[in-house]
Amino acid sequence: MILDLDTGIDDAMAIAYAVAAPDVDLIGIVSSYGNVLTPDAGTNSLKILELLGHTDVPVFLGEQHSQTTDHFDVMPISAQIHGKNGIGEVELPKPSRQVESQSGADFIIEAAHKYQSDLVLVPTGPLTNLALALRKDPSIAELIGSVTLMGGALTVPGNVTPVAEANINQDAFAANEVFTSKLNITMVGLDVTLRTLLTKSETKQWRELKTVAGEKFADIVDYYIDVYKVTSPHLHGCALHDPLAVGVAIDPSFVTTLDINMFVDTSKEMRARTIGDPARLTEENPNVTVALTVDQDRYLAEFMTLLTGLFQQ
Ligand code: BDR
Ligand code: CA
Repeated sequence: MILDLDTGIDDAMAIAYAVAAPDVDLIGIVSSYGNVLTPDAGTNSLKILELLGHTDVPVFLGEQHSQTTDHFDVMPISAQIHGKNGIGEVELPKPSRQVESQSGADFIIEAAHKYQSDLVLVPTGPLTNLALALRKDPSIAELIGSVTLMGGALTVPGNVTPVAEANINQDAFAANEVFTSKLNITMVGLDVTLRTLLTKSETKQWRELKTVAGEKFADIVDYYIDVYKVTSPHLHGCALHDPLAVGVAIDPSFVTTLDINMFVDTSKEMRARTIGDPARLTEENPNVTVALTVDQDRYLAEFMTLLTGLFQQ
């Protein structure tokens, strides 16, 4: 598995889920921009891996901004949700190692050729790195086993504009290239991730382990839960957006799905809307498997088993 993430708080939980899952070999983490800038996402990934005792996983820097802009600034709203440092203002030691010199896109291409159908890619940030890799080497679309991404929404409003979810919104053009490629894509959108919620009764269990990892993760995620209390009081907890994508990549039976040909709207008015293609609704072999519903109880139980087990080591 390769994770491609903009390491904020739910991305950090996605890393924990991937390293804790017994059947996953996490071969690398690519850093993206969004919740924080790309270099900070790389540093956060190194810090989280070190906290979890997994310094064997290499971290690569991806692109710093979308193809349609010449720079990227963290939106004030992202800094509010994930904290200015992306991990809830929690201080973690400076990492003892550095990011790799190879670029994120080149790492994805190399891994696609090496692992082929065994490779599972889980992007939980913008799709800029994957689109770049596809442009550099289109053959990877039919090599990579599967791409399970957190982004978009089929049936609920977006969280940035009424039609746009944050990850897709960062680079709608890249997202459209990915969605309309020959990749085997599963979309885990806001429809389902807003139904898997974590509360302080779960983070309390981590705190009570009295390990550094348990206490630090409880501090990081409590920050996120406190933000949700203000921004989404109707939800009673924080959404497990990114770790749900990792869970579905490992065990697709957590969700029910619909196979449908989709694209990403790049028009100014509807920018970043993920939508079914009316002209291709009846075509065979649709390009995207979209998650529709999730077995919250079973997922949350697995999430807690994996993360609690990891934090108590
Ligand atoms: C997505 O946006 C980011 O802020 C989160 O980490 C998640 O990947 C949710 O829209
Ligand atoms: Ca993310």
